[in-house]
Amino acid sequence: MGCVQEGTMAGRSQTLRQLWAYAIFAVDIFLLRRERRYLFILVINDKCNLDCFYCKSKNTGRYDLDYAVVRSTLSKAYDRGHRALVITGGEPMVWRSNAATLDDVVCYARDLGFLDIAVFTNGTFPLNSKEVTFIVTIDGTRVTHNAIRAGTYDMILNHVRGASSKVLASITLSKANEQELEGAVHEIANTRLFKGITFNLLTDSPDIIAKHGFLGEERIQVLDRIWRLKGQGYPIVLSKAAYLHCGQMTGEGQLNRSNYLQDITCSLVAVMLTIPISAVIAAIAVVSRYQRR
Ligand SMILES: C[S@@+](CC[C@H](N)C(=O)[O-])C[C@H]1O[C@@H](n2cnc3c(N)ncnc32)[C@H](O)[C@@H]1O
Ligand code: SF4
Repeated sequence: MGCVQEGTMAGRSQTLRQLWAYAIFAVDIFLLRRERRYLFILVINDKCNLDCFYCKSKNTGRYDLDYAVVRSTLSKAYDRGHRALVITGGEPMVWRSNAATLDDVVCYARDLGFLDIAVFTNGTFPLNSKEVTFIVTIDGTRVTHNAIRAGTYDMILNHVRGASSKVLASITLSKANEQELEGAVHEIANTRLFKGITFNLLTDSPDIIAKHGFLGEERIQVLDRIWRLKGQGYPIVLSKAAYLHCGQMTGEGQLNRSNYLQDITCSLVAVMLTIPISAVIAAIAVVSRYQRR
């Protein structure tokens, strides 16, 4: 399903609105150096059909937003100035509230005026909404992913092949897949199915980090390896600012939920910003060419 048809008047005015908002955003941060709240992360449920060993945000039975709450949360976020939205969970594709599905949430957010909308998903359901970027978790090479995520690798790639909009891969790095980081990036890039590859470093709770994640120097080394892969031309979605910022968050005392969100924000801000910045650069290029005539 879709909210706005591409090529229609509504579709064109949405594109113009998007370009205008990117331009204002760029002026605000780059010229006026204002702090802008751009990205909003909506955790819509914690219901999930998988059981990844490092994940604590699943199936507690205590967190499942009602559609009315979703609408008021999005509306308040929009009023506070957020224009990019990431919907995550649990598994957001299994979210239902009476007759409402995730497509209704996406359309509601579009109608409010959110410009970039992404759904963070495990990819085990068809990716058939046109209005979003899908961020699909692939936890390493086929073998390792299948061990962590219940043998779902081929099913996920099939869904990505049939996706009706852009898909990024996200690798969650832990001790279970860190050794094969380079191999996994190579394998995922070689599928040529993903527009980019982004990462999560394990955070959330100190016990999870201590057992499965990276601290201090180890964390910096992992980030350096990701950065090198980007230098080699792999489609890694990580801005220099996010790379440096994430590397600084190395102290044990800092490992808490808000840093988990910051970590996600590190990679997602990069995802979101690559779109607006290129749009702004393209617009500037067109305008200056026009002026030279
Ligand atoms: C919580 S999941 C929700 C979306 C979907 N279920 C999925 O797995 O992609 C979002 C991302 O967070 C990652 N994640 C889960 N637990 C984490 C943790 N403790 N630290 C960092 N990332 C984590 C997942 O691997 C996934 O890439
Ligand atoms: S698929 Fe996502 S929400 Fe479900 S257990 Fe794995 S990381 Fe957690």
